[in-house]
Parts: sequence; C-alpha cells; structure tokens
Amino acid sequence: MTRAEYDRLVEEAQDHEHRYYVLADPTITDSEYDALVRTLQEIEAEHADWARDDSPTRRVGGQPSGDFPTVPHASAMLSLDNTYNENDLREFDARVHRALEGEDIEYVAELKLDGVALSLTYEDSRLIRAVTRGDGTQGDDVTPNARTIATIPLRLRVPGVTAEVRGEVFLPLASFSELNERREAAGEKLYANPRNLTAGTLKLQDNAEVARRPLAFVAYWVSRGSGEVGTQWDALGMLAGWGFQAKSNRRLCADVDSVLEFCREWEARRDELPYEIDGAVVKVNSLRQHDELGATAKSPRYMIAYKFAARSATTKLNSIDLQVGRTGAVTPVAHLEPVPVGGVTVSRATLHNADELARKDIRVGDTVEVERGGDVIPKVTRVIPEKRPADSTPFPFPDACPVCESPLHREEGDAIVRCDNASCPAQVRGRILHYGSRGALDIDGFGNAIVDQLVEQQLVSDIGDLYEVKQEDLAALDRMAEKSAINLVDAIESSKTRPLDRLLFGIGIRNVGTTTARALAEHFRSLDAVAQAAEEQLIEVPDVGPIVARSIVEFFEVPENVRLVDRLKGYGLTTEIDSPPQ
Ligand code: IVH
Repeated sequence: MTRAEYDRLVEEAQDHEHRYYVLADPTITDSEYDALVRTLQEIEAEHADWARDDSPTRRVGGQPSGDFPTVPHASAMLSLDNTYNENDLREFDARVHRALEGEDIEYVAELKLDGVALSLTYEDSRLIRAVTRGDGTQGDDVTPNARTIATIPLRLRVPGVTAEVRGEVFLPLASFSELNERREAAGEKLYANPRNLTAGTLKLQDNAEVARRPLAFVAYWVSRGSGEVGTQWDALGMLAGWGFQAKSNRRLCADVDSVLEFCREWEARRDELPYEIDGAVVKVNSLRQHDELGATAKSPRYMIAYKFAARSATTKLNSIDLQVGRTGAVTPVAHLEPVPVGGVTVSRATLHNADELARKDIRVGDTVEVERGGDVIPKVTRVIPEKRPADSTPFPFPDACPVCESPLHREEGDAIVRCDNASCPAQVRGRILHYGSRGALDIDGFGNAIVDQLVEQQLVSDIGDLYEVKQEDLAALDRMAEKSAINLVDAIESSKTRPLDRLLFGIGIRNVGTTTARALAEHFRSLDAVAQAAEEQLIEVPDVGPIVARSIVEFFEVPENVRLVDRLKGYGLTTEIDSPPQ
C-alpha cells in the first residue's frame, strides 16, 4: 500500500458516498461500501500520518467537542417574510415588478424544509467550518457535528473552491419516527417534532451520538464570486456539481402563475416527501436583480416564503380519558371520532395537561380541531364553539386519581397534576415497564400484557419483586406458555448484568434520562455513591443542573427507594463500575 493508493481509495469512497447519499444511485452494495470504509480505517490505523480529514472514516465521531465557539457570519443570515395565501404572493410579485419596472422576472420555487439553517465554509474545497444561524450575525461553530452529516461533502467534487454554502439541516421523517420509537420503548419523553430534534442534535457535545442520528443537508445558497453564475438556478446547479443535494424538487418558473402551481402541487403532495416541509420559498432568479432589490434590516426583498396551512381536521370528541404515568403525572387524552388528518387516521390526541384542558375549555361532545404537525402525537388545538351541544358542561378534572383514588395534587406553578401515591397500580406498572425497557434493564419479552398481569395479580408491586418472581408464577398467567415463562425468568436474571448507568436510568429518578444516567455512573462509579451524594456534588457532574440534582436527592430521601437499592444489591445487580476510570 502506498500513500497514492490510499488517496485513491479515499476518493473512491467519497464517490460512492456521494452516489449513495446525494444521488441515491449507488453502484456498489452497502456491505461493499462498509468493507471499503473498514479498509480505510485499517490503513489509517497503520499510517496515521496519511489519514486525511476528508476521509469518510472521519464522519463517525468520538471526541467530545466541548463548548461551541461563537463565530461571526461573513454576511448576515437574514430571515424570510412570510405569505399565507395566493393574494399575498401575487402582491409580492407585483412589488418586485414595480421595483424592476419593465424587466423580465423569473422565479425559482423551492421547498421550504422545516429544519435548521447552517452555514458551511470551504477553503480549497475542504470543509473547514460549520456555523449555525444563531442570532443572524453570529452563530455556534458546530463543525465536528456537521462533519457527521453524510450529505455535507467534506471535500467538494470540484477542486480549488473557496466559498460559503448555506442550507438546511433536517432529520428525515423515517429516522425521526425510529428515534422516537426507541425513546418510547425506553420510557423517555418523546421529541416533539423533527425540527426540534435537529436543533437539539446539532448542539450535542457528543458527536458520536450526532452520528447516530442520520441528519441530512440540502443547500440553497452560495456566496457570490465563487463561480460564474448569474442566477439562483445556476447557483443550485453549481452546488449540485460540487456534491450537494440542491436541485431536486425545485423549479424554474417563468411567472407567478407557475410559482403558484408549484406551491399548490407541493401543498397537496407534502406527505409524499420523506421529510417535513412547511411551505415553499420563492426567489427571484437573477442575482443582478437581487442586488437591485436589496434587503430590509430583517429580510431580503427578492424572496419570500409561502407557508402551507397546518394539517388539521375537525372531528367529534367522544370521551376524555386520564392516563397516569410512572411519575404519577396525569395526562388527559381525547378519544375522537376517527378522522383522516394529512393522510393518517387519528382517533386519539393529547390534551397535554389539566391547565391546557381548562384554558381551551374542551368538553366531551365538542367538535374540535385536531392538528398533526411534524409531531408524532396529534393534538387538539381548539373547540369549534358553534358546534357545542346546548347541554354541554365543562370537563370536571377529578380530585382523585382515576386509578387508585388517592387525592391528586399539583405543585405551585406546575401545570401537571400528579397522583402522589407511589404504590398506585398505574405508577407501579409504569415504573416496571420503564425498568424493563430497552434503554434501561432491557428485559426481553416484557410487554404491557405481562406487566399488567404481574401488577394485577400482585405478584409485583415494586421493581425488587421482579427478582422474586418464579417460573411457576409466570406460567399461571394468561397466554403464557411454559417456554415463554422460562425465557422471561432468564431475561430477568440476565438483567442483573446490565451496567450501572442502565440501572440508574431504570430505577426511574425523575429528570434522569439515559445521558444523565451515563454521566452519573461515570462520575460516581457506584449506586451507593450516587445515593449518598449531596446536591453540590451532583451539580459538578456534566449534564446535571440544580433541578436534576434536587430530583436525585429527593429520590434517595424516600425510605422505599433506599430499601429498593439495598434489595437490588442483594440480588446481585451490577451497582458498581469495576474498571478503572477512563
Ligand atoms: S433561503 C433569508 N431557501 O427557512 C434567508 N431558506 O424562514 C432565506 N429554509 O432561515 C434563506 N428551506 O433556514 C431558503 N429553500 C430554502 C429554504 C430556506 C428552508 C429556511 C431557512 C431560513 C428559514 C426562513
């Protein structure tokens, strides 16, 4: 192997990467590509001095990136004016025509991806910096995270380019659903929508985690002077030639009518796209005309956003159900007459919490508007007052838990009503399901149906009881074959070997998610040390703020929880980290 051969392999891998991610037209199989990347890794391990920054092996993170430095933008990243209907858009067109009297005006119509704007700087065709929009004049340097995004070329496909490229980072819907399903299985709070998750991901300190969330990038702008282009359309063509996703689903339009046709067409077809859009962006094509039109302090005059209507429908609210979660939070859920909303039939929607319910005065029997954004969970946005039945009465939010009947309680300033009875069957069930979930102790075959029965039959009323459950007990449950009972006992047994961070997450301390659990395990290295830590010590852990620290201390102030920890130690669970600190 010579260095020239290595260089050739890097470039070959870059070609395949571009074919696969940008053009969606691979010429080798996934495993052939993986093998190529592995070969590169091996060569780089052997010849560290050859390793190139733009090698596809460098996409996978590893190093924590520390705080993000703030970097000024070469030119301000402005925002866009919005229009919401055909008339507004025609008015925009009329304004442009007035300002450029007598000139021909073409437009480029693009989809408005609902993600996060990112500025990329290339020098000599190498990616050297990626900066978020921030406040428009300066943003966060998130280069290590951006490098993990497969559709951001680390090296442009044309040599010698120095330019700034701007575009949108987003999370494809399929990846969003998958990540949320994993969180749901782990009993974690769901991400509200792909946009928020994208923004959160770009700001993660751990770029290995960023690499696990398959973000994507579409380019829509390039700094002037970086090529001989006079129009937005040609700029997009140039960006595509450099290796970006830039031309698909965009259209050169001769006039505003053809722009409107593009908008109508995509508004109707938005659900066919594998990513979330919230409208279209309409841009004057000629860059010379951009200069003539200029910008206000806030936004350019040569482009405008055309926002699509949120996807909503109206339907009848048949009943309101109260769900009690593992932390005792009581969430009202609406059961609806099934209705299609943006291509999906919706029959349940969240009503968030008691405050929201009261504020919107949502009642059983009402006709309500349901909205499904990028969110997984549809929500009831408002009541249609004209359709309210004459005999309707406000929904009486109960004072007692719908499951265990103990009094509900709400802390000052908290929108959430809670059941405080830690032995409420709904909470027990929630805690046990959470304990066995994938991100926690990962007990195979531990679903709703089994846990419901374990709790109902009072075989289990606390996490510790799981380790007392016998095969005979399980075999006596409904729909439980002997083989499954054996498997489940084995699965419970093998949960004892899960590492400390999983256990810390699994015992369900409020506000402690997987990342915090990992940080706590790393720092304290034993369950006892976490249990005995004072708030000041807890706050020293990265990722632990005062609220989380308080929750941890409060958890270990409860005698039942202390007993639980002792029991778990007794059953031989992994409550310490043996290996020396890294
Ligand atoms: S052009 C003046 N083109 O929408 C800044 N923006 O609401 C306009 N966006 O900050 C940039 N798709 O993050 C442009 N095809 C597209 C876009 C797009 C999404 C985002 C962008 C911008 C926001 C404004």
